Amino acid sequence: MCGIVGIIGKDNAADILVQGLEKLEYRGYDSAGIFVAGANDQHYLVKSQGRIADLQARITPEVNGTVGIGHTRWATHGKPSERNAHPHTSSNQRFTLVHNGVIENFEEIKQEFLQNKQLEGETDTEIAVHLVEYFSDNGLATKAAFKKALTIIKGSYAFALIDRNDPETIYVAKNKSPLLIGLGDGFNVICSDAMAMLSQTNHFVEIADGEMVTVKANEIAIEDEKGNAVYRESYEAQLNLSDIEKGTYPYYMLKEIDEQPSVMRRIIQAYTTATGDTQIDEEILNQIIASDRIYIIACGTSYNAGWVGKAILEQMTNIPVEVHLSSEFGYNMPLLSAKPFFIFLSQSGETADSRQVLVQLNEMGLPSLTLTNVAGSTLSREADYTLLLHAGPEIAVASTKAYTAQIAVLAVLAKAIGDQKANPKSLNFDIAHELSVGAAIMETIIDEKMLISQLVEQYLTDSRNAFYIGRGVDYFVAMEASLKLKEISYIQAEGFAAGELKHGTIALVEEGTPVFGIITDQKTAAHTRGNLKEVESRGAHNFVISLESLAKETDQLIIPDVHPLLTPLVSIVPTQLIAYFATLQRGYDVDKPRNLAKSVTVE
Ligand code: M6R
Repeated sequence: MCGIVGIIGKDNAADILVQGLEKLEYRGYDSAGIFVAGANDQHYLVKSQGRIADLQARITPEVNGTVGIGHTRWATHGKPSERNAHPHTSSNQRFTLVHNGVIENFEEIKQEFLQNKQLEGETDTEIAVHLVEYFSDNGLATKAAFKKALTIIKGSYAFALIDRNDPETIYVAKNKSPLLIGLGDGFNVICSDAMAMLSQTNHFVEIADGEMVTVKANEIAIEDEKGNAVYRESYEAQLNLSDIEKGTYPYYMLKEIDEQPSVMRRIIQAYTTATGDTQIDEEILNQIIASDRIYIIACGTSYNAGWVGKAILEQMTNIPVEVHLSSEFGYNMPLLSAKPFFIFLSQSGETADSRQVLVQLNEMGLPSLTLTNVAGSTLSREADYTLLLHAGPEIAVASTKAYTAQIAVLAVLAKAIGDQKANPKSLNFDIAHELSVGAAIMETIIDEKMLISQLVEQYLTDSRNAFYIGRGVDYFVAMEASLKLKEISYIQAEGFAAGELKHGTIALVEEGTPVFGIITDQKTAAHTRGNLKEVESRGAHNFVISLESLAKETDQLIIPDVHPLLTPLVSIVPTQLIAYFATLQRGYDVDKPRNLAKSVTVE
């Protein structure tokens, strides 16, 4: 949520900032802005409502300099508008600041310190830049004024501040929101995500919560909350520029759907040996085996993957598993078992709702593992253990390959634990082989794009609502399939347990309502088909996705059989394509749906 960039020590600062913001647009795209300090005391502040392209259109050739900061916004306080776009400037124009996060006590700060200030917009951020000015007006040097402001501000933030009287320095600070410093030769950069500055450097330094950094062209100085100097090694980002480009694809989402088979193969390579054994850190396995209950904590798509993970883990390990929404768990923690183990699922590794749970669990001294796609992300650093998803950067807001990667890695984890416990079901499960069969089936489904696109025209062209139904893991897939459809096509879609529809929600089914049935489980196939008949008699336009061994000729999409534990890996793929084509048909931006952002770093 919101992305920030900064650069100091390079001639074409404005271009670099805009290019960086383009790479961060997934974090928010309702408004954007840059501030650049140029030669001869020239300063430029350019802001725009809308996308980075709108901002770029406003940047004239004279806007340039060697130092600058930029921001792309996902609105929390104050509607998307040019007035509320960052960077924000203090009354005397001396200080300019960008912020990612939420200042919780901004009303109190306004009351206590800023009653005489005329604020321009409605954002919490504006308070921060005025507070720095307040302490500066009271005689503190810039760094001290910034530090003083930080002691008062409560909430989450990544800040970057420039003082026009000393444009040789960018002051940055971080608490709960992501922030990295990138090291260059004669210049340095800052960014919310390494992706933004990969074209400049691939050496980055992590900043911990509570730290403040003075960034100059040739040096950086990190201080902890007490003012002690901190030295931290840089690391090399394991990302290629080509991984984050769309290539010939019209949208990232389509590219990422197509990448799923290769992600499965990467997971096989990373977590299994040539002889098909699993390879996962023994310590993780021992901790989980010693526990009496696994709690999966996640949000959105990752939460939906968690339910599939529960089904696989329970069958392979005989350890009970609970799945919880992070935003609920943190504030309404259930009674925990005597020896709980926590698994965090998070593509980005930065989701604030999940992080607040992890912070509490760490305080309670409870063990945790994060499955994430982003090495070095906050949830990875703060959990006891990490397993990477190896999905490669996922840029489309709608998560696709991270979902299937989460399921695959959870399946490998389940198999590794099951084998240690000598569970016959696990011992007989050749995970490497079954995942590679799954990958091949994904490919056959992906090859059916034209058919899926035609079916979407028949089923979804004029619909304002739709249902996905299924039982057991098919229900879990229905939850994810409906999330995908609604978040990008804006068709109001619900994922429902097939048997539950008749207990109320069937009232919404009317002539022509599309109902997608997912049938991959022999135990429940007949019942789901019965439920599909019930809605059909009430006018529903049924669309059945079934496994070959359970299929009927009249089914719309038939998928080759896969191992019963891994059916979600393949049954989700057509639903991702259905969402994609429904969105294209409606003319919406597939990769950047309204109101959303990829990385949700506010609670
Ligand atoms: O990065 P995370 O997996 O923690 O993100 C959680 C959700 O915000 C995310 O899965 C979201 O639901 C998807 N982008 C929707 O496609």
